[in-house]
Amino acid sequence: MEEIVFHQAERPNLPAHPFEAFLHEQSEEDWAQAIAALLPHIHKVDQNATRIWFHFFPLALARALERAPDPEQLARELLLQGRYRLRDQIDESHYFLYGHRYWPTIKRAVIEFAERFSTGNAQLSLAEQIREVARRASRDLGVAEALTIGITAVAFMTVRQAGLEAVKRAPGTIRLSEWALRRTPEQVLKARARDDRQGLFGFLRTEDKVWTVTFNENDPEAHFKLVHTQEIAWAAASDKRPWHLRDPRCVAGEGPIPVQCRSAACGTCWVGVLGGAEKLSEVGKLERRMMPRFGYIDTDEPRPIIRLSCQAKAYGAVSIVIPPWNGYFGKLLKGEAADAPKDGAEDSGDRIIESSNLSS
Ligand code: FES
Repeated sequence: MEEIVFHQAERPNLPAHPFEAFLHEQSEEDWAQAIAALLPHIHKVDQNATRIWFHFFPLALARALERAPDPEQLARELLLQGRYRLRDQIDESHYFLYGHRYWPTIKRAVIEFAERFSTGNAQLSLAEQIREVARRASRDLGVAEALTIGITAVAFMTVRQAGLEAVKRAPGTIRLSEWALRRTPEQVLKARARDDRQGLFGFLRTEDKVWTVTFNENDPEAHFKLVHTQEIAWAAASDKRPWHLRDPRCVAGEGPIPVQCRSAACGTCWVGVLGGAEKLSEVGKLERRMMPRFGYIDTDEPRPIIRLSCQAKAYGAVSIVIPPWNGYFGKLLKGEAADAPKDGAEDSGDRIIESSNLSS
């Protein structure tokens, strides 16, 4: 997961609870290494979803907000819009993982693990601890461990960002239809890989091919059509349902993806790509330049799993996830990198915030 920005370990003001203290001591690089180590063991259905979730809820941003003297002011400086705090969406932030269906059990298993946690546990790496909890939960659920690892990693990070008490207080309920609950991982993967049939003489079609863009795999109604080579956000605008009633960032009549500039300047339209990233156009110069500025991803990959939907053109059916927030915090990450102390002795959080000048 080289594309996520990770820096120094956290130090002062550790929570009193040993499990939370352990999580707070994990640097962003520790988290990146843990996810990289876990990824091969995660079922294919949740490999991209897990990576996307960690992009959607970056620790660097959570830490900056935790340490800001005035978090609301910082949020305004970072142009944050929507629901960017995990503590406000403990039970639903991960709705797009297949493992979301196991959340009540995973949540319980993580809380039990936290209650038993002692400093002796800290001998195990973050990845080993996640696997231990995932293994226990998979036995309780009677499912393959591979299906519980991604959602368990998400649960660990949720405890880190929202706090153990908040996680305990969350109801731990999920809202999935019978249809969604019945689907097997194989059916989900098959649906992701499927391209639309183009009719009897579809093989003759070229530019007028039409593809389906799915934006919530748990909802059979959550899709719109895209004309071959059209940008995803432009195609979304053909969906005239009142999505602004669900997400106030959406513009009435402009579809389910929030948009503002449509020219890679605002960062509003970012999406995660669960399936079909290879059927999108390569990242262009503008998108490449702007993504690190927004803070969403910093990678040389030609077709990464995080895209600006106003720039990404589709050449086939794709499955995407729309994040619940957007912002402009790349400079904050850069400031953090520049200010990171070498010996881990000093809290750089306040200086990160002071150094974030987003106006230029
Ligand atoms: S709508 Fe502004 S970057 Fe895509």
